[in-house]
Amino acid sequence: MDVFAAISQRSSVRAYKASDIEEDKLKKVLEAARLSPSASNRQDWKFIVVKSKETKKKLAKAAFGQSFIGEAAVVIVACGTETKTFMACGQPTHTVDVSIACAFMILQAYELGLGTCWIGAFNEGETRKILNIPEHVRVVAVIPLGYPNQPTSKKIRKNLDQIVCLEKYE
Ligand SMILES: Cc1cc2nc3c(=O)[nH]c(=O)nc-3n(C[C@H](O)[C@H](O)[C@H](O)COP(=O)(O)O)c2cc1C
Repeated sequence: MDVFAAISQRSSVRAYKASDIEEDKLKKVLEAARLSPSASNRQDWKFIVVKSKETKKKLAKAAFGQSFIGEAAVVIVACGTETKTFMACGQPTHTVDVSIACAFMILQAYELGLGTCWIGAFNEGETRKILNIPEHVRVVAVIPLGYPNQPTSKKIRKNLDQIVCLEKYE
């Protein structure tokens, strides 16, 4: 599968089959995070792999009851471990770096036939407590991962001419 096919065909998965995912597939998804770029190549991140049914259910509760999170074979909780670093442009490095790694994982998962859904609606404090994450570490995203139990949904996107302008901001 080429990159554009993955980008254009992937959609968020909010229903998962009960089946486990293969370890080599999980490892490849995590490798996609490991190999992704980061500001100054800092790699200040940690990816917590959760397989325990009980813990996944707790994470779903901490994500305001998005119960499908608890149904996925694995939940990856993506964290920034150094949160005081900002780029010269003013953006926090950890948010950008961890988000890129998550995007790479999501695309890699799709190529392997696995579904994901980026979860940004979660209570960080509760998530921290469940996983024993220290205070200085920020949770950027929660990513359920598993075999999809739903058809691919249609993409609803703005047109290119609505989001691209030439030479100056319009
Ligand atoms: C930063 C971010 C946060 C998101 N948070 C949630 C979430 O908490 N729950 C959810 O079901 N989907 C969440 N999504 C998924 C979006 O709703 C979804 O990507 C968007 O509607 C486009 O649909 P698609 O992913 O199927 O192309 C999030 C996506 C992003 C990028």
